Amino acid sequence: MADTEDLSLSRRDLMAAGAASAAIAGAPATASAATPDAPHLAQVTFKVNGQKRSLTLDTRTTLLDALREHLRLTGTKKGCDHGQCGACTVIVDGRRINSCLSLAVMHEGDEITTIEGLGAPDKLHPLQAAFIKHDGYQCGYCTPGQICSAKAVLDEIKAGVPSHVTADLTDALKVTAEELRERMSGNICRCGAYSNIVEAIGEVAGGLSKGEMA
Ligand code: FES
Ligand code: FES
Repeated sequence: MADTEDLSLSRRDLMAAGAASAAIAGAPATASAATPDAPHLAQVTFKVNGQKRSLTLDTRTTLLDALREHLRLTGTKKGCDHGQCGACTVIVDGRRINSCLSLAVMHEGDEITTIEGLGAPDKLHPLQAAFIKHDGYQCGYCTPGQICSAKAVLDEIKAGVPSHVTADLTDALKVTAEELRERMSGNICRCGAYSNIVEAIGEVAGGLSKGEMA
């Protein structure tokens, strides 16, 4: 008998607890529940294509979105948004990075160069001119990233930075088709313009013969 009483009390308790949790679930979100989703804003100042730019951003904003959505520099493209295609490549303090993998607020004081800063339609960068001459693109979506990457690749070779395929670390680095393919391997071209891209970069590097392209 005592057991039955316990059981009925338990049932009442259970129903009361159930009603209370249903009421909580139906209640409007409180200010404290909403707080975790509120954006954290921060100011960042960097130089983009030689111009000082200051932005107040949600700290989760990537450099890619800061450039495209906030500064309207849409030359830099969003492909995978996961660091796998290279379409978003920009040059930061002389080094190429995937801007989709980097938070804008990490770049306080940095110097950023996008495709818009390399050249202009009436004053093309030699790489831009070479890509046109050698048909180094079809749809063009990957091209800004390819050209920014190529610019940094040539600087890396000039500075003597070896790659995975550099055979002799004691000799001066040479621009070969193999070196260019390896160093540009993070830049995907869905149109498959790879051989023309290598030709274009090779020409700017000082000229690779057709034999060296093979
Ligand atoms: S968009 Fe950044 S690597 Fe693809
Ligand atoms: S030119 Fe179309 S993806 Fe490279």
